[in-house]
Amino acid sequence: QIETSIRPQSLEDYIGQSKAKENLKIFIEAAKQRNEALDHVLLYGPPGLGKTTLSMIIAHEMGVNIRTTSGPAIERPGDLAAILTALEPGDVLFIDEIHRLPRTVEEVLYPAMEDFCLDIVVGKGETAHSMRIDLPPFTLVGATTRAGYLSPPLRDRFGVILRLQFYEVDELAAIVTRTAAVLNTSIGNEASFEIASRSRGTPRIANRLLRRIRDFAQVVGTGDIQLEVTRQALEQLQVDEKGLDHIDHQLLTSIIHKFNGGPVGLDTIAATIGEERHTIEDVYEPYLLQIGFLQRTPRGRMVTPLVYEHLNIKGV
Ligand code: ADE
Repeated sequence: QIETSIRPQSLEDYIGQSKAKENLKIFIEAAKQRNEALDHVLLYGPPGLGKTTLSMIIAHEMGVNIRTTSGPAIERPGDLAAILTALEPGDVLFIDEIHRLPRTVEEVLYPAMEDFCLDIVVGKGETAHSMRIDLPPFTLVGATTRAGYLSPPLRDRFGVILRLQFYEVDELAAIVTRTAAVLNTSIGNEASFEIASRSRGTPRIANRLLRRIRDFAQVVGTGDIQLEVTRQALEQLQVDEKGLDHIDHQLLTSIIHKFNGGPVGLDTIAATIGEERHTIEDVYEPYLLQIGFLQRTPRGRMVTPLVYEHLNIKGV
């Protein structure tokens, strides 16, 4: 079988997240045996770990269609009603950033998830009355960067809750090798591991770096991706040995130089480096916490001695 998409289409081709994958496999098999829609699935974890990809795989494995949207895109209950009534039995509805659904929409979603029905108000004023519409059974797959962002009643309505983890280096190397094959690009094993070890545990970053390194290899090299051109390109791209980029560096050095290493509040850090609080929280912080570069304390964020060592800065 020739792969044409960077996104794997089946669970079998999906690398990593073995716990989530094993469990999903059982739940999918069981639902198929019973000829039912799969129970609603909540996927959470930092960006770029494969939540959208998994939702597509779920639909593919169940043999149903997928409709994809996002929390902020569904502004009114009517928008959700239009989507839900167009589904076919068993279909997957994927809502990315589900924590950003408006409250009014969330309330329409509860009975839809629980009883596959919609309670809508038709008419205005004196003639207004509520109407119940039956929906086909469907699977809601919701994605969010943190389960804690969801309101408890919404979270409680998901039968399957899967937390995605940062990937191991060998898993990322396998993903890079696979993606290079899809892109028709030759790559050496050492180069794959080099990219993998500098991708902050995140396939989206690994695949993005691969594409950029491929550009360098093509224009300043022979097109073949080997260790040397990989290292040169990563230097050019300002990605360090740990995979930290310009913004990670700014974040860490500003805590050290402006706040004595911390603790300092997140909003203060955000204002200092000119990034959104939420971007720092969802995109940058999780990996820095994971590798022990940052610590969360009740009084704010602190860098650890590892950072001084890594950035070659003398402590105080
Ligand atoms: N491409 C991006 N994420 C992937 C994964 N988890 N497995 C295989 N290929 C991928």
